[in-house]
Amino acid sequence: HRPIKIAPSILASDYSKLGQEIRDVTEAGADWIHLDVMDGHFVPNISYGPDVIAKLRPHTDAVFDCHLMISPVDMYLESFAKAGCDIITVHAEAGPHLHRSLQAVRNLGKKAGIALNPATPMNIVEQVIDMVDLVLVMSVNPGFGGQKFIHSVTDKMADIHALIGERPIDLEVDGGVTTETAVDCAKAGANALVAGSAVFKGGTIDAYRDNINAIRKA
Ligand code: DX5
Ligand code: ZN
Repeated sequence: HRPIKIAPSILASDYSKLGQEIRDVTEAGADWIHLDVMDGHFVPNISYGPDVIAKLRPHTDAVFDCHLMISPVDMYLESFAKAGCDIITVHAEAGPHLHRSLQAVRNLGKKAGIALNPATPMNIVEQVIDMVDLVLVMSVNPGFGGQKFIHSVTDKMADIHALIGERPIDLEVDGGVTTETAVDCAKAGANALVAGSAVFKGGTIDAYRDNINAIRKA
């Protein structure tokens, strides 16, 4: 079993002091920083883009795990690569040319991820399995933090885990991850856990450390 990576989503942090939040959550034990990019079109919310990410890059050495909830996506990939994202994940539902998008991410020298909405079946992953470094299974409908975990996605996670087999591909779960739901995710084979509200609740570095440790321990 691969060690579990905890990826706090800064969607749940205090946007007025993002640099500090990123330094604190890194210090508190985060493995990756999960960056939720929303365009108000693919998802019904707007967050931040590559310029904000570029400004955050000097504040931590942690892996920048970028989750693009945008459509179209291809024309923006280069700016996210230049901003310092290490993993760039695109949604299977974001456009008709997923294969091209994944290829473009790899050509930029970045790790490529594919994200699946809760209603999207796993079959599409089979077609691109050798083009991806990460599969992200959404366990809420993307757009907002603080939603309830959709339990039916754990079967899909287990199926994707089996498909991945020995390949060096991370299986990430995103949405509603708490000390309770993290257990089912790990059992289903997830090795990267995104958590927004469950990490940033409390609002202090000590709280972040306690929250991250609690998820890891679970
Ligand atoms: C939802 C985002 C998630 C979200 C997770 O669209 O992709 O990363 O911020 O937040 P929590 O952990 O609060 O569900
Ligand atoms: Zn996300």
